[in-house]
Amino acid sequence: MNLNNCNKTIKEFTRLIEGKIYNPFEGELKIGVDLGTANIAISVVDSNNRPIAGEIYPSSVVKDGVVVDYMGATKIVRELKLILEERLSTQLNYAATAIPPGIMKENMKVMANVIEAADMDVINIVDEPTAASTVLNITEGAIVDIGGGTTGISIIKNGNVVFTGDEATGGHHMTLVLSGFNGVSIEKAEGYKKDKTKEKEVFSIIRPVVEKMASIVSGYIKGYDVSEIYLVGGSTTFMDFEKVFEKELGIKVYKPYNPLLVTPLGIAMNCISNR
Ligand SMILES: Nc1ncnc2c1ncn2[C@@H]1O[C@H](COP(=O)(O)OP(=O)(O)OP(=O)(O)O)[C@@H](O)[C@H]1O
Ligand SMILES: [Mg+2]
Repeated sequence: MNLNNCNKTIKEFTRLIEGKIYNPFEGELKIGVDLGTANIAISVVDSNNRPIAGEIYPSSVVKDGVVVDYMGATKIVRELKLILEERLSTQLNYAATAIPPGIMKENMKVMANVIEAADMDVINIVDEPTAASTVLNITEGAIVDIGGGTTGISIIKNGNVVFTGDEATGGHHMTLVLSGFNGVSIEKAEGYKKDKTKEKEVFSIIRPVVEKMASIVSGYIKGYDVSEIYLVGGSTTFMDFEKVFEKELGIKVYKPYNPLLVTPLGIAMNCISNR
């Protein structure tokens, strides 16, 4: 498996987000809104799925696919939309969004309502693994998405999702472990966790959490013929993360560049009307 093309696209998207810049574009844009537990993101690509612009904002208005602060979520989506509209000098009136595997129908409706309340028509709702698989350009294997709140897994065969599962162990648990270990506040521990200069020391403390995540995945893939695992989600950012998974699972594990942005980018790529 060669992730070169996919990595190039994610790198470009990262550059646009970090620089708060955009790529010149022509024609219709495709827009994606990701309402995550840790981050809300809006991604914009063109009809060829070339990244055009994006904004990401840390938030706690959604918990594991359930909107817990409707007004707060709407406000953030509205603000991110305005920032991007100004940057691109165009209106962003429609979007696709995504739901974690296993989410209830009612919650799906609330997610769509948040986006519609921010003046965007929701033209497509995809499941998160499908969004990620579009960026990765894969039709076989398991996608493991480790975000703030959950470890989600989807097994894909012949381009179809044949199994999904999730468990409430995510990046927040790593933060809790670090907070307890060092006797510091959760906010401090969150900063410590993301401090690149402390990565080795941090990873040695949270390693058991990563091993637990791998054992969750191991339980789920039993009985399926999975030969490749793809890691996405912000919590897989650690350099040695995939090594722990490979050791625990004995399966080839791939991680794209900046796994945090894979699902948000893939949602925009799936902004195709399903009506
Ligand atoms: N550089 C980093 N190193 C370690 N962890 C990181 C880093 N950047 C982000 N994270 C963690 O990744 C998590 C957020 O990832 P992501 O944006 O994929 O989650 P989400 O989609 O909002 O949540 P979920 O999918 O659970 O609803 C947070 O727990 C955050 O602390
Ligand atoms: Mg997510």
